[in-house]
Amino acid sequence: SHSQALAGKEILITAGGTREPIDPVRYLTNRSSGKMGYALAEEAVALGASVTLISAPTALPAPRQVNAIYVESAKEMRSAVLERYNKVDVVIKAAAVADYRPLKEYDRKIKKKDDRFILELVKNPDILAELGQNKKDQILVGFAAETDELEKYAQEKVRSKNLDLLVANDVTIPGAGFAVDTNIVTLFDKDGQAEPLAIMSKKEVARRILLKIKELLSQR
Ligand code: PMT
Repeated sequence: SHSQALAGKEILITAGGTREPIDPVRYLTNRSSGKMGYALAEEAVALGASVTLISAPTALPAPRQVNAIYVESAKEMRSAVLERYNKVDVVIKAAAVADYRPLKEYDRKIKKKDDRFILELVKNPDILAELGQNKKDQILVGFAAETDELEKYAQEKVRSKNLDLLVANDVTIPGAGFAVDTNIVTLFDKDGQAEPLAIMSKKEVARRILLKIKELLSQR
C-alpha cells in the first residue's frame, strides 16, 4: 500500500483563484473553485505528508490536518509562498493566479457615470517563475490551464519556469478544469515527456500526481 508514501515530507500547495481588488466593493477573479488544490491537500495528508495549504477564496472547508493559510490577491499569495519556500520539500501550484491586477485600487466605490469605463491593468508577479529561479532542492510542480495548443505551451512552461513536473489541463473540455469534480490532465516531466491520463476524479488525479512526486523524491 501507499499509506505512508510521503511520511516526513513537507508539502506546500496553493489553491483557488486570486481576487484582485478594484474598489471596496469589487474585484477581478477567475473560475477556480479550489477543488483541484484541496484534493491535493487531502490526498497528501492521506499519504502521510505534513501539508500547508495557501488558499485564495473558495467555498470549501479546510481539509483535516492541513495548516490552512488564507490569502486574496496574487501579491498576498506570493508573500505567503515565498516565506515558506525554503522550509519545504515540495511545492504544488494548483492555484489560478491572476496574470494582471488593476493598476489602482480605488479607496471609494467607483460611481456609475460615462457609458464606457476603462480599467487599466498591470502585470502581477509570476510566483511560479520566481520559485523556479530560486529553487534549491525542492520538487517544483506547476499547473497549466490551456484552451489551445496544450502540448506546446506546457513544454514552454516546464522549461521557462524550471519545473520538475507540470500538470496540464485543457479547460475547454467538459469534465476537465474549472469547478467540476473530475479532470483530464497530461503530466509533463522536466524533459517535456508527456504522460496523458484518462478522465478521473480530482481526488484520483491528486493521488497520481503525488505518487509521481514520491518517485521524484526517491530519485534524489
Ligand atoms: O480550482 P478548480 O475549480 O478545481 O480548477 C482547477 C484548475 C483549472 C484551477 C487547475 O487544474 C489549474 O489548471 N490550475 C492552474 C491555473 C493557472 O493559473 O494556470 P496558468 O497556466 O495561468 O499558470 C501556470 C502556472 O503558473 C500555475 O501553476 C499557476 O499557479 C502559476 N502562476 C501563474 C500566474 C502567476 N502570476 N503566478 C503563478 O504562480
